[in-house]
Amino acid sequence: MCGIFGYCNFLKEKDRKEILEILCTGLARQEYRGYDSAGLGIDGDKPGEIVFFKEVGKVAGLRQRISESSIDTTQSVMSQVSIAHTRWATHGPPSVINCHPLRSDVNNEFIVVHNGIVTNATALRQVLQKRGFKFESDTDTEAVAILTKYVYDSRHDKRMTFTALVKTVLKELEGSFALVFKSIHFPNEIVTARRGSPLLIGVKTEKKLKVDFVDVEFAGAEADTKAVESLVVPTSPTSRLAPPSLPKVSRRQSRNFMSEDGMPQPIEFFIASDASAIVEHTKRVLYLEDDDIAHIAEGQLHIHRLRRDESGKAEMPAIRNIETLEIEIAEIMKGKFDHFMQKEIYEQPESVVNTMRGRVNFDDYKITLGGLRAYLHIMRRGRRIVFCACGTSYHSALATRAIFEELTEIPVSVELASDFLDRKTPIFRDDICVFVSQSGETADTILALRYCLERGALCVGVVNTVGSTISRETHCGIHINAGPEVGVASTKAYTSQYIALMLMALQLSEDRISFTERRNQIIDGLRALPAQIKSVLENDKSLRELANSVLANSRSLLLMGRGYQHATCLEGALKIKEISYMHSEGILAGELKHGPLALIDENMPVIIIMTQDSLYPKVQSAFEQITARKAQPIVVCNEGDTGIKAGVKTIRVPRTMDCLQGLLNIIPLQLLSYHLAIKNGFDVDFPRNLAKSVTTE
Ligand code: F6R
Repeated sequence: MCGIFGYCNFLKEKDRKEILEILCTGLARQEYRGYDSAGLGIDGDKPGEIVFFKEVGKVAGLRQRISESSIDTTQSVMSQVSIAHTRWATHGPPSVINCHPLRSDVNNEFIVVHNGIVTNATALRQVLQKRGFKFESDTDTEAVAILTKYVYDSRHDKRMTFTALVKTVLKELEGSFALVFKSIHFPNEIVTARRGSPLLIGVKTEKKLKVDFVDVEFAGAEADTKAVESLVVPTSPTSRLAPPSLPKVSRRQSRNFMSEDGMPQPIEFFIASDASAIVEHTKRVLYLEDDDIAHIAEGQLHIHRLRRDESGKAEMPAIRNIETLEIEIAEIMKGKFDHFMQKEIYEQPESVVNTMRGRVNFDDYKITLGGLRAYLHIMRRGRRIVFCACGTSYHSALATRAIFEELTEIPVSVELASDFLDRKTPIFRDDICVFVSQSGETADTILALRYCLERGALCVGVVNTVGSTISRETHCGIHINAGPEVGVASTKAYTSQYIALMLMALQLSEDRISFTERRNQIIDGLRALPAQIKSVLENDKSLRELANSVLANSRSLLLMGRGYQHATCLEGALKIKEISYMHSEGILAGELKHGPLALIDENMPVIIIMTQDSLYPKVQSAFEQITARKAQPIVVCNEGDTGIKAGVKTIRVPRTMDCLQGLLNIIPLQLLSYHLAIKNGFDVDFPRNLAKSVTTE
């Protein structure tokens, strides 16, 4: 998905070279989100001049374009604002013309960078074109830039604030987005707003800040209503834009970023879609909520609300806290590895420990999930547990469904968030809805969460990204603490989600004496897990050989298993298709005779997961059925399993508890998908057409 980066310095001298470097690095840190072009807009030499650099392809290409330009990079300024963007094409193909920032007109009066989709952009475009505005791109964003100019021009006295102007524009927009505006009419000011797409602002000062929060400035209800009425003419989409009469919204004089001695101080602000773009500058950040509008000018940050209470939440806090990021810059670098995905696969022995740290007491077999403590009694009384997630996160829920049902004796359903919403699934007040998401920003999962909140269910988050929308909007939850996951293909988040969900099931069942032995065995299994993962990783070389030999020319690969291993098959197949672009399908072995068996012949590559659990004999029978049809499956089985026929290719993994075995079985499949992609020369960290964080429906 697109990445936003904005930079403002106030009373802090920076030359253009430094500013361009900050912007390009800010974009590069968000490359992993997925994008196809990059651009930025900075002040030019003359007052009111804006210079753009735009390039299709990588941020490296943008840097190249800048270095080849004649721009004087030695010029320095005490204060400025600049904006940058990586675009993931939605409206119009990747091209320089569609690259952000988009502008309102040839004089660049207003320029905008944008994540998400403005769903009424076509109607806005038609109205604006009728009023004589010219469009140069295919994007929805350009409609926002031109609308801003239209609203500004309609105010003949030009006395509105930048915030009031943007507020009026936002009220005309439908969809979900994050936007940053810069204008020649408001030099050294920036306005940014979010509705549905994440945005955070980093604050960097030399001296300590006087306060570590920012007040939310709620506009008077009357002024807001007037602004809405003036623009919305609801008869037809093409007649919506009546000339606006903007209210003058006065800015409260809270001087929130003075130093402790009350003096203005040098300050820098970094606006980004992602904390990874900010952490190298500062760890002090503030997360914007939906419908927040942040205005930065003269070293001050003001947060306004679009309307008094449109959040859908019972209480909207009147302040935004400045929080401290817990990630380290080293965590978002590749280190000795060739790719982020490879690094993250190899991090799993530690990331699973981090998920369990402080939560599992291996001596007295106790689980303590602080984030759930106050809600456990409600959860235990729930009549149903509903998991909602997408992609890999969905698979982690599927992988743990059986153990939840076994230990809690509460019925569990596992839902793909988009389908859950499409079906308008009935949800009740005594349902426990669990939202699993690495990013915490997946649009479908967020919409499913809001749907369940509206229906009064208890909403629990299982999230990796601290401060993300899902972690903030759920009633309670668990952070999986896997550390930043940069590779688009999710690997360590899967194993950490799996463990976090296991811990939740164990905690919920702690009052059931009859399960004590089973619980203790699982906890022993968890203790042994990091070392077992390490030993699976030691087989990397043989998996690379497998990718380069037996599977080298395969066009398709089926993965079969049942019970706990059905989720492993689905997740393994997802990894293979998303980064090696090979068709791959996870098949429930119990369904073999109901259709998939027709695919089997001597040319169809199959991996069958046959680790030892209660379903082993049934998987053995599936093995017989496919080998009888000349398949030559590769078998994922336990070390020391002597039941596998001689001559059969195997991938051996240590044995653990049935409900934990999927954590070990997935690792060779992650490595296999990695090697298949490398063999084919594909860009593992940036698989085509995919984004790390899917912030649109
Ligand atoms: C696959 C992958 C995706 C995500 C899915 C949900 O490797 O990364 O399938 O799992 O887009 O994302 P989150 O977990 O961020 O909600």
